[in-house]
Amino acid sequence: MEQALAHRPFASAPFVVGKSPPAAPSEPHIPAEESLSPIVSHQWINGEYKHLVVEASPKALAVKPGQFFNLLCPSPDAGELWLRRPQSVYRIDRAKGRLEFLYKCVGRGTNGLATLKRGDDLNMVGPLGVGFTMNPGWKNIVVLGRGVGLATLAPISQLAGENGIGVTAILSARSADFVMGGELFGEVGDVVGVLDTDGTSTVENVEAILGRLIAQGKADAFYTCGSNRLFQLMKRLGKKHGIPGQIAMEQIMACGLGPCYVCVRTFEVDGKQELRRVCIEGPVFDLQEALGW
Ligand SMILES: Cc1cc2nc3c(=O)[nH]c(=O)nc-3n(C[C@H](O)[C@H](O)[C@H](O)COP(=O)(O)OP(=O)(O)OC[C@H]3O[C@@H](n4cnc5c(N)ncnc54)[C@H](O)[C@@H]3O)c2cc1C
Ligand code: FES
Repeated sequence: MEQALAHRPFASAPFVVGKSPPAAPSEPHIPAEESLSPIVSHQWINGEYKHLVVEASPKALAVKPGQFFNLLCPSPDAGELWLRRPQSVYRIDRAKGRLEFLYKCVGRGTNGLATLKRGDDLNMVGPLGVGFTMNPGWKNIVVLGRGVGLATLAPISQLAGENGIGVTAILSARSADFVMGGELFGEVGDVVGVLDTDGTSTVENVEAILGRLIAQGKADAFYTCGSNRLFQLMKRLGKKHGIPGQIAMEQIMACGLGPCYVCVRTFEVDGKQELRRVCIEGPVFDLQEALGW
């Protein structure tokens, strides 16, 4: 027995999109895999964000809204770049067999990622983590995001649209240039942009917008990502009006798979504090159990 195990490969080779046979190389009961995904397009959408489209393996295309991939980013300079970088999926295009990412260039990993060109292979591990859930009985949901959080919320809006559930997307940004995904959210529901430049992104104004949606019966559930103050607002209103909610949390990660405990955050469940790993117990959590950051 021991001898047989010793001869089993420790890790499988990556699935090469367009080349590997459908069932190889990973075992079907394992929900994630490492894959090499050819880049279809990779473009700047403003001064800070890039939109990346890849051809994806069947296992990668099974990603659920809110789940993420851990991407191997090339080094942008002469030094080594350790560790993959987590990115949630922005759009799942199962008809074309493609996945899309929308990311902000903030440091060496994302600036290295930005150097990849059309035709290059992106090495990605996933889908990872626990995604959003949706109750088929809901008629209308509200998504509220800011910055890169908008990328994470886009697929839940896509899923709501596919299931005939109405969506109001409140997109918060520094200025009009940074309201991302407006078109994508607009395909499935109503879009409300709130900006720092004209003062509409204040907590007071967003609270007034949410209050109107609640009064109109357009808020069966809340979803949020990307802003601590907006999360706190949704949590407070969710508690007051008995509206269920979910938050996609971010945390710096190392392994992305559960064993290293780099990504732990504190939660509160039934009045008691609990530590949970964002990579494997999240990144999506119950709005009322999450604490701020
Ligand atoms: C589950 C998950 C999904 C994500 N999805 C997206 C996405 O769709 N689009 C997107 O643009 N970004 C997303 N992020 C954030 C992204 O992973 C980080 O921006 C990226 O890892 C930064 O790597 P870097 O080497 O470029 O920057 P670094 O040099 O590592 O860091 C640059 C700056 O970014 C901060 N930072 C690094 N990692 C994170 C993080 N995980 N969360 C918050 N701040 C961080 C650092 O503290 C530092 O200030 C996601 C993060 C997680 C955990
Ligand atoms: S990143 Fe290693 S346990 Fe979460």
